[in-house]
Formats: sequence, C-alpha cells, structure tokens
Amino acid sequence: TIVCSCKGVTAGVLRDHIRGGRTDLGELKACSGAGTQCGSCVSLVKNMLDRELTAA
Ligand code: FES
Repeated sequence: TIVCSCKGVTAGVLRDHIRGGRTDLGELKACSGAGTQCGSCVSLVKNMLDRELTAA
C-alpha cells in the first residue's frame, strides 16, 4: 500500500522505519521522504505512527 504517492513510500517502508526507532514524526518524514512534498499524506503518516506506537 502506498501511503505517500509523491515519494512512493509504502506502509511497509514506514513501518520498518518506525520499528527501527524513527518514532518522531519529523524524523520519520525526514528519513523516509514521506510527507515532504505536497504534504497531503502527513495525517496518514501520523496515523500510522500513532498506531504502531500504540501496538508496540
Ligand atoms: Fe506524500 Fe505528497 S503524498 S508528500
């Protein structure tokens, strides 16, 4: 599943980054590229982050 279509970042890639310790939204954006172009996916990225942190 593509979360960020501008950068072609998938949910799986984001999950790997989060599990690898990128648990800050800004850091997650910076290292994955997601949300750094049009910004429309930022709420999705944040939701994923919140979900992963709650699930962990
Ligand atoms: Fe993620 Fe545009 S869809 S920055």
